[in-house]
Formats: sequence, structure tokens, C-alpha cells
Amino acid sequence: MLAKNIEKALNEQIKIEAESSQVYLAMASWAETQGFEGVASFMYKHSDEERMHMLKLAKFVNERGGHAKVSALKAPPVSFGSFKEMFQTLFDHEVMVSEKINDLVDITLECKDYATHNFLQWYVSEQIEEEALARNILDKINLIGDDKGGLYLFDNDVKLLASIVAEN
Ligand code: FEO
Repeated sequence: MLAKNIEKALNEQIKIEAESSQVYLAMASWAETQGFEGVASFMYKHSDEERMHMLKLAKFVNERGGHAKVSALKAPPVSFGSFKEMFQTLFDHEVMVSEKINDLVDITLECKDYATHNFLQWYVSEQIEEEALARNILDKINLIGDDKGGLYLFDNDVKLLASIVAEN
């Protein structure tokens, strides 16, 4: 059985994952309107992944006798300025999510809830991968700058990355 404070903290994380899905969906749509199919498809997949993160948490909360809440979400931005700004936003967002996961892990240790602690290890590993991926993309885009040819190749690269992410 989940302690009330852990249930509340997990529900907050459910909301964060749902909002992440919305942010990446907004990024996908914006990139699509700019004609960058690869970036758009990467972001659509990323948005689906965040929904999966949210569902995994919701099912866990319900399985442990809690109640997963579906909350109202903050509206994401409509446009993102440039690809550099967009990927910086994505990276900063993932760093924020990692901090939230770490806070959750802290709470489970304080409450000696080792089952939830164990469950959260999947998210700890996932965040290492997500931050590394976002940093890698950001490094690439920083190298390219505003070069149109470079951005075209970058879009193709990211399309490939999206298909690899989809297979895993
Ligand atoms: Fe579910 Fe990208 O954090």
C-alpha cells in the first residue's frame, strides 16, 4: 500500500510526464510547419514515449492501492524560435525531470518504501539516456548554427535517430 505522501508525489510526476508529452507534441507540430520532417518525427515519437512514462507511473500507483489522477495540464508554447532554442528547451526540460525523479527517490528512501524505490530505478536510467541524447543533439546543432545545408543534413540525421528510437 502506498503512503499518502508517496501517492501524492507520484501523481505530481504523472502530471510532469503528461506535460512533457504535450511540450514535445507542440515541438513536433512546430517543426512540421517549418518543413523539418525528421525533427518532427523525432518529436512525435518522443511525445509518445513521455505518454508511456506517464502510463507506467499511473498503472503502478493503481496497482499499489493508490489512485492515479488525471490533471489539467499547462499549455505548452506554440512556437520555439529556432531549432537551437527548441533543443535547448528540450535539454533544460529533461534536466528538470531528472531533478524531480531524484526528489521522488529521496522521498521513497525517507519513507522506507523500497518497492517504489525499486520501481523508480527504471526512470533514473531512462533520464541518464534522455539527457545524454538531448545533449548530443544540442552539441550537433550548436556546431551547425544557422547554416541551411547543415540544418537539412541534421534533419535527415534526426529522422534516422527517430526510427532507431522507434525500434527500441
Ligand atoms: Fe519522461 Fe523525458 O522524461
